[in-house]
Amino acid sequence: AQTVGRDGDGVLNVGGIPVTRLAEEFGTPAYVLDEADFRARARSWRDAFGADADVFYAGKAFLSRAVVRWLDEEGLNLDVCSGTELATALSAGMPPERIAFHGNNKSEAEIRRAVEAGVGRIVLDSFQEIVRVAHIAESLGKRQPVQIRITVGVEAHTHEFIATAHEDQKFGIPLAGGQAAEAVRRALRLDGLELIGIHSHIGSQIFDMSGFEVAAHRVVGLLREIRDEHGVELPEIDLGGGLGIAYTSDDDPREPHEIAKALTEIVTRECEAARLRTPRISVEPGRAIVGPTAFTLYEVGTVKPLEGLRTYVSVDGGMSDNIRTALYDAEYTVALVSRTSDAAPMLVRVVGKHCESGDIVVKDAFLPADLAPGDLIAVPATGAYCRSMASNYNHALRPPVVAVADGAARVIVRRETEEDLLRLDVG
Ligand code: LLP
Repeated sequence: AQTVGRDGDGVLNVGGIPVTRLAEEFGTPAYVLDEADFRARARSWRDAFGADADVFYAGKAFLSRAVVRWLDEEGLNLDVCSGTELATALSAGMPPERIAFHGNNKSEAEIRRAVEAGVGRIVLDSFQEIVRVAHIAESLGKRQPVQIRITVGVEAHTHEFIATAHEDQKFGIPLAGGQAAEAVRRALRLDGLELIGIHSHIGSQIFDMSGFEVAAHRVVGLLREIRDEHGVELPEIDLGGGLGIAYTSDDDPREPHEIAKALTEIVTRECEAARLRTPRISVEPGRAIVGPTAFTLYEVGTVKPLEGLRTYVSVDGGMSDNIRTALYDAEYTVALVSRTSDAAPMLVRVVGKHCESGDIVVKDAFLPADLAPGDLIAVPATGAYCRSMASNYNHALRPPVVAVADGAARVIVRRETEEDLLRLDVG
């Protein structure tokens, strides 16, 4: 759905605008986000799951007020995991009942704010939080809808899942040893809580559906236990996010309708076997919606050939606008986008301008051998977890997010300025 193409001079156009013009107008580095693509992906998730399920966009992947409005307009819900993400959502007019509030260490102030605002659900992450949220809700004279996040004993990796020691992590309440069942027991006893469902999130950048299958099986198993013990059939289950996108040509992502079909079938089948009413399913894709919709536009600075090794291409950003390569060994591709070139391909490493050697944006790639300072290059699929994890390392000013649509570009998150940074420095 992405509206990108090259014009006669080989200049990349996005949403009808040449990147050379974007660079002139907004500077580099910049995240360039294709609004039509974002909306189309959001819609395809919404349509795939239909009226009997809910899609919560995971705001941690990238959140701004414009994004919140697009999601609202396209009929999606929103998952937030901090008071500030919540404030962003509310300030952009997302109806509170369509917001889910996550986190393993929500502060009392954050919980109060969420309960007061009337968020649709708070996802409880620990025994202490069950009590904490109940007390706050009671003190406000409310009954807060909640889900309990459990760890089902599946750890999803990019292409496989393993069923060992994964409960050794900070999120959720383990299913093992009856802990999740005990959490349910406690939540059902508290007047401040309305337990509406069970939540499971198994990981991120996943292509293999079998991890979800095991998770769904175990979540439904818990629903059955709850029915048998308490005579209650919980109306909802949330299977989290985590669906992978294509960063390189090796990645083969599933389409939303395939995912929806697979998840719905698994849950329905498992519920039929357990003689349970099929609960309402929700999912929380972040990366799969926003990831492919943006690229980072950089200007090439120093080009340094290292005899017999490779050529280091330095750009005007780096690990401060994309930490994923340094942090996860993530793979990206890169392309020259401001002109065509007939020059032979050369092996490059695209690096940033930060003071450490791990400051790599693209580890191994090919760019034309005549690459020169001033050329523009683009790194695709940087819509998720790049701006949202950006830093001010070396006092870098975080780049803007420029949304393009129908031949027009507008800044939806502006570039940080020196004044922005210096204003924080009050010593
Ligand atoms: N729901 C929950 C409860 C989550 O913890 C997450 C992601 C999501 C949904 C959305 O997952 P997605 O569909 O975007 O994979 N910074 C890492 C990814 C961290 C994901 C954290 N949780 C990265 O850059 O790869």
